[in-house]
Amino acid sequence: MKPTIITAIEVILTKPKEHNLVAVKVHTDQGIYGLGCATFQQRPLAVKTTVEEYLKPLLIGRDANNINDLWNMMMVNAYWRNGPVLNNAISGIDQALWDIKGKLANMPLYQLLGGKAKDAIDVYRHADGGSLEEVEANVRALMAEGYRYIRCQMGLYGGQAAIPHINKMATHGAYYDQDQYMRSVIELFTYLRKNIGYEVHLLHDIHERLTPNQALQLVKQMEQFKPYFIEDPLPPHQTEWLEQIRSQCATPIAIGELFNNPMEWRAIVEKRQLDYMRVHISQIGGITPALKLISLCDNYGVRMAWHGPQDMTPIGHSVNLHLNIAFANSAIQEWDAPNDNIRQAFPGTIEAERGYLYPSDKPGIGVDLDVDFARRFELDWGVQEWTQSRTPSGVIHTP
Ligand code: GCO
Ligand code: MG
Repeated sequence: MKPTIITAIEVILTKPKEHNLVAVKVHTDQGIYGLGCATFQQRPLAVKTTVEEYLKPLLIGRDANNINDLWNMMMVNAYWRNGPVLNNAISGIDQALWDIKGKLANMPLYQLLGGKAKDAIDVYRHADGGSLEEVEANVRALMAEGYRYIRCQMGLYGGQAAIPHINKMATHGAYYDQDQYMRSVIELFTYLRKNIGYEVHLLHDIHERLTPNQALQLVKQMEQFKPYFIEDPLPPHQTEWLEQIRSQCATPIAIGELFNNPMEWRAIVEKRQLDYMRVHISQIGGITPALKLISLCDNYGVRMAWHGPQDMTPIGHSVNLHLNIAFANSAIQEWDAPNDNIRQAFPGTIEAERGYLYPSDKPGIGVDLDVDFARRFELDWGVQEWTQSRTPSGVIHTP
């Protein structure tokens, strides 16, 4: 096959909605370019520097056709590997290379990967609210649009009710109370199941806000409400506790959006300690490692539920969709409705229909980027407030 030489690499930073987004554009001498998602909303400039100062000089002049070799080289070239900055930078390029390959083959990504394993993927949406009634109203509004899977939170992650007993020296931070949060989740799910019933699938994200034993208690108590899954009961450095949770209840567990590295998932997959793998594709380095992960999970009966938050470009959401269509062990796709600025910045942004996402037949990943329009939206790279989570005594907890 004729080489497709990489001639230039650009990083595009934008914020068309609420979150910082990072996209990478790889140009070739064949007049074809590729686009990839490299979004790390809390550290966008670090990703930009890694791509521009380290990966770009390494890749210019090389053959874009050899994705496997380029991925392996990018991963080991810094000697130390697998951090979130490096992985997102590699992902931006890796996804762009797959986009180029699809364009060269004149095939959508899912066809390049073997074709459809299903027609469409079920979508899950988020319903949040400050009160039981508000969450219920938001759940019902989504159900009216045809959604059958809805993640319910009351007061964002960890709950955000007033905390009367906060310590009087309180260091600046985003405070929440773990006991109050646990009680409020049970109250919310009792209320929703009583008022809405069991027709709709409900989900919940613990977002690693509890101690391991608290997580065990809450996940166990949630079993009665038959959730579709409970997300991130534990942080990545405490996943050994999954063994205790599994031995005490059958509540489906989804975990992995914070994973960077195969060492974080290998053992829990092999021991079947999770039901859904929620890895964030750009966070592990792109499509190339995601394909290996899909096969590993499939062998152990674990299904894929890729992380699909608002802090991800439409390119990243489309990658999730192609992989979900191409592989039978995909379970569900997390998705949020874009606004008009996102649609205009990223032509081809995917849209759900009555609770499903369908793949596009455009070659490659199928999402373009209007660079000039996107660059009009300046990033916000100031100090992050919401990740300064503290419990009432003032101690920092994982966000
Ligand atoms: C989710 C997530 C996100 C993360 C965010 C971090 O399940 O969608 O937990 O909302 O908090 O991606 O930047
Ligand atoms: Mg989550």
